[in-house]
Amino acid sequence: MAEPPLGARQVSPLIPGAASLEAITAETLASLVMLAPPGTVERRYGLALALRALVPGGTLTALAPKDRGGSRLKKELEAFGCDVRETVKSHHRICACERPEILIGIDAAVAEGAPRLLQSIGLWSQPGVFSWDRIDPGSALLAKSLPTFSGRGADLGSGVGYLARAVLTSPKVERLAMIDIDRRAVEAAAHNVLDPRADLSWADATGAAVPLSGLDFVVMNPPFHDGGSEDKALGQAFIKRAAGALRKGGVLWMVANRHLPYETTLTGLFATVEVRIEQGGYKVFEARR
Ligand SMILES: C[S@@+](CC[C@H](N)C(=O)[O-])C[C@H]1O[C@@H](n2cnc3c(N)ncnc32)[C@H](O)[C@@H]1O
Repeated sequence: MAEPPLGARQVSPLIPGAASLEAITAETLASLVMLAPPGTVERRYGLALALRALVPGGTLTALAPKDRGGSRLKKELEAFGCDVRETVKSHHRICACERPEILIGIDAAVAEGAPRLLQSIGLWSQPGVFSWDRIDPGSALLAKSLPTFSGRGADLGSGVGYLARAVLTSPKVERLAMIDIDRRAVEAAAHNVLDPRADLSWADATGAAVPLSGLDFVVMNPPFHDGGSEDKALGQAFIKRAAGALRKGGVLWMVANRHLPYETTLTGLFATVEVRIEQGGYKVFEARR
């Protein structure tokens, strides 16, 4: 729907290894294409960073599905001082504009979407990361159900580090690999989990970028959305990765929404599978290799 410029650099926080839009020097880019995110604060933050990075006269193309922020894009860009051309294609709104000489409200939008320590939950976080300003009820249920672990483990999809902090309360845990695909979550987790036993990686936990084997335990609250739509395959890929990472007899503790069909995947890969708690629409599984 919108061609990225030839030779473009990737700057998405959801693509491991990508450059960071925050770090690009102001007024240096000739053009930028952005699939704008659904959250309002996160989207205005990204648009503000994009406009700041462009040279005056440089082109911004921003698009989003109509019902996931697309219908608000034009007004948001106009509020930053842009003169916007909007087109409609495949349920998306595509907005194009040139970066004006004078931008309005950029610093405020950047400040509003920036990382911060949230006193309410006692964690660093940022608009756009999973459950950014409250503890997810599924994660809270898993954290309070966890046994005292020992040895080497992993937290797949570790977010801002809430579960990892619960795991690391056990002095017998030797190492904990924390893997998340969202750079912003990993950066927040680096503030939240200062324990030297934690190893943080910005990576796809379902791929092999971070080698994991012979682990004693894995914890996870796997994602079940990809690009806004429900995707049970992603959770199933997390379960496969956990099974492959554990030693025989190693244990997976996982929480999932009750309606998600993970039992078949679990029983196919683990010697025993037990539902330890079922509460508030969630199930906590303990599965042993
Ligand atoms: C349901 S959240 C759980 C977050 C955290 N463990 C907690 O309990 O608050 C799932 C996390 O998985 C991450 N994620 C999604 N796809 C991923 C992937 N392919 N590899 C690694 N992390 C992923 C998301 O960024 C999100 O932080």
